[in-house]
Amino acid sequence: MIEFKDVSKIYENGTHALNNVNIKIDKGEFVFVVGASGAGKSTFLKLMMREEVPTHGTVRIKDCDLSALSRSEIPYFRRGLGIVFQDFRLIPKMTVYDNVAFAMRVIGAKEKQIRKRVPYVIGIVGLSDKARSYPSELSGGEQQRVALARALANNADIIIADEPTGNVDPVMSMEIVDLLMRLNREGTTIIMVTHEHSLVRMYDKRVIILENGCVAADGKMKNSAHRETLGGARLGKPDENFATKYLDEDEEEIAEEPAADTAYSDAVADYSIYLEDSDGGDE
Ligand SMILES: Nc1ncnc2c1ncn2[C@@H]1O[C@H](COP(=O)(O)OP(=O)(O)OP(=O)(O)O)[C@@H](O)[C@H]1O
Ligand SMILES: [Mg+2]
Repeated sequence: MIEFKDVSKIYENGTHALNNVNIKIDKGEFVFVVGASGAGKSTFLKLMMREEVPTHGTVRIKDCDLSALSRSEIPYFRRGLGIVFQDFRLIPKMTVYDNVAFAMRVIGAKEKQIRKRVPYVIGIVGLSDKARSYPSELSGGEQQRVALARALANNADIIIADEPTGNVDPVMSMEIVDLLMRLNREGTTIIMVTHEHSLVRMYDKRVIILENGCVAADGKMKNSAHRETLGGARLGKPDENFATKYLDEDEEEIAEEPAADTAYSDAVADYSIYLEDSDGGDE
């Protein structure tokens, strides 16, 4: 489903962020990506979401060579992805509700679906009482959970999450990973970057370790830590099969092509990628 073949990424300033990476991720896998700061983890994800293109080699997702995508095809490609950015990239002028709703609007979801789904995913991340707040009124961890809700909104079949637990406490970290695990059991492919080795050790999942832009290890870790029982869960409880629920419940699926206001949709469909890029400008 995801394939990196001899991929190297050298940024314009000469930084070698990735060196000859060869990775295959199958449909339905859960993969942790770990490594020191600067090891290339975010770059690895940005190549997957076509925010960056490789300097050498090819990145393929669902048999599509991402370097071959035209600019206008990129937003359509990204519809199949749920992305949690390391820097959140919430839209400051929109409330929590609208930030999540916007992600659905740009792919042409119907208002009826939006009104149902948005409160549901906001509830899952435990922020129902903050739905009317603006990002600037939220703590770092709350903003992070909005970013997660947005990634969950569209039932993407691939979720790419860059440190989705970086700003929350250990209990909530586990709850977030549990949530992602649950989505994964329902068939979603998950790629999650984290610094938290203790978290990774609690789950028996594939781990890719990056070191100086190279794949230093790839496989399962020894499951040395035991999974603790969660105390005081604060995230909402997802319904059974919450990954599939959205489409099952509504007779109409999300329109394959933007439904009504196509021009608007096209104009903003890759909104989040170019907004407030505090990672250091690109494109
Ligand atoms: N847009 C850019 N232009 C130039 N260099 C960059 C750019 N983005 C990242 N880099 C550099 O590429 C290397 C890898 O960065 P990357 O963001 O992928 O690391 P990371 O593993 O995600 O780190 P962290 O854990 O701190 O988020 C670093 O040396 C970084 O300084
Ligand atoms: Mg990073």
